[in-house]
Amino acid sequence: MGSHSFAPGSSALAVLACFLSVAVICNGGTTSPFVRKIWPSVDMPFDSDVFAAPTGHNAPQQVHITQGDHVGKGVIVSWVTPHEPGSNKVHYWSEKTGRKKHSENTVVKTYKYYNYTSGYIHHCTIKDLEPDTKYHYVVGSGHVRRQFWFVTPPEVGPDVPYTFGLIGDLGQTLDSNVTLTHYQQNPYNPKSVLFVGDLSYADDHPLHNNLRWDSWGRFVERSVAYQHWIWVSGNHEIDYCPEIGEYTPFKPYLHRYEIPYRESNSTSPLWYSIKRASAYIIVLSSYSAYAIYTPQYVWLQEELPKVNRSETPWLIVLMHTPLYNSYNYHYMEGESMRVVFEPWLVQYKVDVVFAGHVHAYERSERISNVAYNITNGLATPVSDPNAPVYITIGDGGNIEGLAKNMTEPQPEYSAFREASFGHAIFDIKNRTHAYYSWNRNNDGIATEADSLWFRNRYWDPVKESS
Ligand SMILES: *[C@@H]1O[C@H](CO)[C@@H](O)[C@H](O)[C@H]1NC(C)=O
Ligand SMILES: *[C@@H]1O[C@H](CO)[C@@H](O)[C@H](O)[C@H]1NC(C)=O
Ligand SMILES: *[C@@H]1O[C@H](CO)[C@@H](O)[C@H](O)[C@H]1NC(C)=O
Ligand SMILES: *[C@@H]1O[C@H](CO)[C@@H](O)[C@H](O)[C@H]1NC(C)=O
Ligand SMILES: *[C@@H]1O[C@H](CO)[C@@H](O)[C@H](O)[C@H]1NC(C)=O
Ligand SMILES: *[C@@H]1O[C@H](CO)[C@@H](O)[C@H](O)[C@H]1NC(C)=O
Ligand SMILES: *[C@@H]1O[C@H](CO)[C@@H](O)[C@H](O)[C@H]1NC(C)=O
Ligand SMILES: [Fe+2]
Repeated sequence: MGSHSFAPGSSALAVLACFLSVAVICNGGTTSPFVRKIWPSVDMPFDSDVFAAPTGHNAPQQVHITQGDHVGKGVIVSWVTPHEPGSNKVHYWSEKTGRKKHSENTVVKTYKYYNYTSGYIHHCTIKDLEPDTKYHYVVGSGHVRRQFWFVTPPEVGPDVPYTFGLIGDLGQTLDSNVTLTHYQQNPYNPKSVLFVGDLSYADDHPLHNNLRWDSWGRFVERSVAYQHWIWVSGNHEIDYCPEIGEYTPFKPYLHRYEIPYRESNSTSPLWYSIKRASAYIIVLSSYSAYAIYTPQYVWLQEELPKVNRSETPWLIVLMHTPLYNSYNYHYMEGESMRVVFEPWLVQYKVDVVFAGHVHAYERSERISNVAYNITNGLATPVSDPNAPVYITIGDGGNIEGLAKNMTEPQPEYSAFREASFGHAIFDIKNRTHAYYSWNRNNDGIATEADSLWFRNRYWDPVKESS
């Protein structure tokens, strides 16, 4: 596929539509003319620099961290040792005190997948850290000690500024590497990643070659060993493959990524919540049951009333499959979950819903489609100040390539869409304002291809304009 293909027709159409209709109808909906990617959609070869294993016998690799409790005072440190279990200990000390501590609160897991056998996957949960503090930590022992650091989030509170990064559907192609590089160079200096699902795309290889899970772990270590990434499961985490005797959904993902789900009284690592600074983050599972009476439904029903906007003004929901999507890829796949959950998203004034799955970028207007019932025919989204903005950020750049085919004309609810790879940041300033910005890989990191000043739905529900 052409690396610089162009879709002038659609943009011309959008511009024409703007001239012909009143502003209220047009709503500024833009289909960007850029349809761009840089490289062919193939995974980087195993001998690429980004996949290099650390030297030394049994050295810890694939080091990654995530939040380890509900409020951000805990961390889960994970790593893989290839040949033997090795040390269970994480040594750590805060830069403030320098006092050395260690934790052995470690679970070691292994799994088999067809003819693949994993290394020793360690998950060490450390609690009661000081807020807003830099910690150094060491995994491994003897001559294969490896040292990293992270900064704990500030204490939860309503006006605490905090900058999140957003990455989805990353995979391990040359495009993925550009996305990660741009993320790391982002001038807003994002502090942790909200990752909206589809990590390694190992399942796109014969027999779901799980060596691609390992190589992905080594690829992203350069960020996730230093920053908490908050995980969401996607369809490429399911790894359900009865043809080769693999019947347990999410087996590789759930062995490799430890989630603090019990801390939010969830019964599954596939849905959970955390507080971080001034944000309350709810993670949902597009590929688990969510209809009435199911565990996820019951959990979310009990969870939403717990969110105290005086404590965490920003209510962010993450899922893999978008509820609003105007691309011809995965079109309406989120519809059944939308029908079940959208009334709650509006009722509880969710600020923003981030999703992935569609390998492109899209941002919606604040709209809802909850009036519809089977007899009234009101099946059109309407402008709704209580509704979230829906953002599809599945544009990390994976082996499956770019989603370029859009529904035409662009629906009114779609504010901006573009088929390019990239990432975004959500930069919370205080309880009323957050700055959102999307970067496309093809331009310099300082170029903002789409941006919006978010106004908090609870404290300051005025209309935004980009
Ligand atoms: C697993 O089986 C495949 C296909 O037969 C083969 O190519 C691969 O080398 C095997 N891997 C291991 C670890 O045995
Ligand atoms: C990936 O990106 C990093 C950082 O820009 C660079 O050092 C590395 O050489 C890249 N690797 C490949 C295979 O492109
Ligand atoms: C979980 O449930 C327990 C027992 O009902 C309760 O004390 C605790 O506050 C709940 N935690 C969260 C985060 O909702
Ligand atoms: C909500 O949070 C505020 C600020 O932390 C606190 O003062 C208030 O008691 C909380 N409300 C409830 C119902 O817990
Ligand atoms: C469907 O909507 C119509 C019009 O708003 C309303 O009169 C009717 O009661 C609704 N039916 C149900 C089952 O909610
Ligand atoms: C785009 O998607 C539509 C609907 O699935 C399909 O009919 C059409 O052929 C596709 N166009 C291209 C260029 O792939
Ligand atoms: C919140 O942040 C916005 C954007 O930086 C600023 O304009 C506004 O004055 C701030 N509000 C308060 C109460 O500080
Ligand atoms: Fe997906």
